[in-house]
Amino acid sequence: MESILERRHRLMTAGPRLYYDVPFHPVRGAGTAVWDIDGKRYLDCYNNVPHVGHCHPRVVQATGRQEALLNTNTRYLYDSVLDYAERLTATMPAGLDVCLFTCTGSEANDLAWRMARAFTGGDAAATSPHGYHGNTTFLDMIDGSAAREGRVAPDWWVTVAVPGPADGDEPGAARTRATAFARNIDAAVDTLRARGHRPAAYFFDTYFCSDGVFPPDDGVMGDGLARFRAAGGICIADEVQPGLGRTGEGWWGFERMGIVPDVVTLGKPLGNGYPIGAVVTRREIAEAFFATGRYFNTFAGNPVASAAGLAVLDVIESEGLQDNARRIGARIRDGLGELARRHEIIGEVRGAGLLLGVELVADRATRAPAGKETRHVINEMCRRGVLVGLTGPNRLARNILKIRPPLVAGDADVDRLLATLDGVLADL
Ligand SMILES: Cc1ncc(COP(=O)(O)O)c(C=O)c1O
Repeated sequence: MESILERRHRLMTAGPRLYYDVPFHPVRGAGTAVWDIDGKRYLDCYNNVPHVGHCHPRVVQATGRQEALLNTNTRYLYDSVLDYAERLTATMPAGLDVCLFTCTGSEANDLAWRMARAFTGGDAAATSPHGYHGNTTFLDMIDGSAAREGRVAPDWWVTVAVPGPADGDEPGAARTRATAFARNIDAAVDTLRARGHRPAAYFFDTYFCSDGVFPPDDGVMGDGLARFRAAGGICIADEVQPGLGRTGEGWWGFERMGIVPDVVTLGKPLGNGYPIGAVVTRREIAEAFFATGRYFNTFAGNPVASAAGLAVLDVIESEGLQDNARRIGARIRDGLGELARRHEIIGEVRGAGLLLGVELVADRATRAPAGKETRHVINEMCRRGVLVGLTGPNRLARNILKIRPPLVAGDADVDRLLATLDGVLADL
C-alpha cells in the first residue's frame, strides 16, 4: 500500500522538504503538547505559529464565532480590522502608526519592499548574509539562507555581516561591534553605488535567526542603521520569527536593541495558525507608496483574521505570556548553560526569551560545525518525544539547535526539554 510519504511525493513531488529523517505526522495539539498519528505525545519546543499554544480555546472560539457570523471581501467596512490595527500599532513606538494587512510574512516583506522603493526612489536591497525573508520572486532573489549552486545574485543586492551580540562581559565589545557594523554598512552602500544603484531597503530579522540566532544587544545596530538612512535607504525590521512578546522584554525584537525601524514586518505568530501578516510603518512611507502604487489583498485582514489576531493579543495580555517568555526563557538558557559545562559539543548558547540557539561544534577552539551530530540530535530528540529545530548558515552542516516553543511553555516543559537533551548528548 502507498505510504503517506509516497503519496506526498506523488502529489507534491519530493521538492517541499520535511523536518526529521522520520517525518513527523501530527494529528492533534493542545498548549505545548502535540500527538502523532499513533497517539504518542510530544513536547513542542519549536513552533512559533501556535504562539499562545496549540488550539488555544479563546482563539478557537473567537474565530469560530466570527466564521459563523461573517467572513468576506476586505473592500468593505467593518470594525474589527480597525480594532486590530489599533491594538497592534499601540504595541509599537510612536510614529509607527499605519498598519496594512497581508496573509503571510512573505507578502509583508514584499509590500515593504515596494514601499521602500516608492519612498526612497532607490532600487537596491541589503540583507544579512544568510537572511531569509520569504518566498516571492523578489525575496527569492535576496535569499541568503539557501546557498544554491549556479545562482546568479542580482547586482542590486548586497549582504552585510551580522552585527551579533556583544561578547559576554568583554569591555567595549558592544562598541567594537557597533563600529564594525557601521563600517560594513558604509562598504555595502559604496558597493551598490559603484554598481550604479541607490539603496532602498536594509532588511534584517531582529534575531538573525537563519544566520544562526544572533540577537544584537542594545546599541550595536544604531550607528549602522543611521548611515544606511543617510545614504537614502530605509530600515525594515522583520519580526516574523522573534515578534509578539517572544523576547520576554517587550513586544518586539528591535526594542532590545534600542532602535526604531522605519518599517516592521509581521507574520507567523499573529493568528496562532490563522494566516495573518502585516506591515506597520510611518504614514509618510505608506502615503508615498499609495501616491503611485496599488495594494489589494482579497483575504488579508478579513473579519475572521481580525478576530484571531485580537484573541491572540488578549491571551498574551491576560495570561502574562511576555513575562512567562522571560522567566521560562531564562530557565531554559540557564539549563543549557549547565549542559554546556558537561557536554563539550555545546559551543555556545545564544538568544533571549523563548528564542534560543545552541551551537554544536566539533571543536570548541575552531568552532568547526558538528553538522552530522546536530542532525542526529534533532532526530533523536523527536524520537524521544521533544520537537526542536535546526538552523545555521552552513547549508551542508547546519549546526544550531533552534528552541522556540509556544509562549505558554511551563516549568515541567523546561525540565523535560533539558533532561531529554542531556540524555541525547550523553548518548552521542
Ligand atoms: C524571518 C522570516 N521572514 C519572513 C518569512 C516568510 O514568512 P511566510 O512563510 O509566512 O511567508 C519567514 C518564514 O520562515 C521568516 O522566518
